[in-house]
Amino acid sequence: MMEQRHDPERTIDLDLVRCTENAALAAWKWFGKGQKEHADEAASDAIRGMFQLIDCKGLVRIGEGYKDNAPGVFTDERLGTWTAGAIPMAIAVDPIDGTSLTSKGLPGAISVLAVTTCDNPDDDPRGLFPAIPSHYMEKMAVGPQVVANGRLMLDTPIEATLEIIAARLRKRVEDVVAVALDRPRHERLIAGLRRAGCRIRLISDGDVAAAIAPSLPDSGVDLYVGIGGSPEAVLSAAAIKCLGGQQLCRMWPKNAEERAKLVNEDGCTEADLTKVWTVDEMAQGDHLIFAATGISDSPMLRGISYKDRHVITESILMRYRNRTVRHIQAYHDIDRKTIHLASTSQEVRL
Ligand code: FBP
Repeated sequence: MMEQRHDPERTIDLDLVRCTENAALAAWKWFGKGQKEHADEAASDAIRGMFQLIDCKGLVRIGEGYKDNAPGVFTDERLGTWTAGAIPMAIAVDPIDGTSLTSKGLPGAISVLAVTTCDNPDDDPRGLFPAIPSHYMEKMAVGPQVVANGRLMLDTPIEATLEIIAARLRKRVEDVVAVALDRPRHERLIAGLRRAGCRIRLISDGDVAAAIAPSLPDSGVDLYVGIGGSPEAVLSAAAIKCLGGQQLCRMWPKNAEERAKLVNEDGCTEADLTKVWTVDEMAQGDHLIFAATGISDSPMLRGISYKDRHVITESILMRYRNRTVRHIQAYHDIDRKTIHLASTSQEVRL
């Protein structure tokens, strides 16, 4: 007889997709309307509302900081029913990665979350998504084929990195596709990519999907590189771990003031500031689930579309332990679909 095992993922994984589906649908109402705070507020309300129906003790580890005064799901917030016996889970969530993209009606926006629990359900899962105090991290993400030779390092010059990637993928360097955020801080990086001769896709926002893309078989992206948000790095780490790829990250204080804050207020040592994080360190544990739904088209997911009085969502759901990747296309009947909102504790029509 097979041994019984603690497998909480199976009971909640589809509900986690409902969270990102509902957030994407709620955000869609604000798509292109130039009001990113409203979009974020609607998506957050929908995620919180869905969690009100999920039997878990959810602790948000990676969310918005309260100090921003912006809408969002906040770090340290409790989500779930919190009934006795419900399983404690650490949550990383971004109701919208790409709020500006959503408000401008541009591609690349997703709703995304990851959840992890301990082997022993009595243990505290919070440390499984370590808090990273810097606003930004340097990042480099590649897919499983490239990881196999283990020679990638953050400090290797970009030209040499591209040669390694090209060799692993059996491509010419000029056929390698790299993605980076279009930011002035990437001037030198972009110059290096151009010198090496690879193809470059500069994105204006939304680096969770961009970092995951090299680990997806048909994304057309081979490398994600550059400096982006630390919470986003944890979210992409969860997916990349499930897909067998790798993402190397290091804290990147944006100026001397932030560096001083990291040292004096957050207690970071020099070793912390220079530490290179792997996906196993950023998204720990075996009971890891990742879910995302497209708001607008990205290399990972198609955005929301319509057909015959149905709204169509595309989502991806991954479990680390068995590495199952589900692509979920859902047809929501416009006349029947409702979303449970936390603000009213009620179901509302699309
Ligand atoms: P938001 O949707 O939360 O605004 O984040 C968008 C984003 O582009 C992230 O994907 C990325 O990690 C980060 O912002 C980059 O930060 P910045 O815009 O400050 O360069």
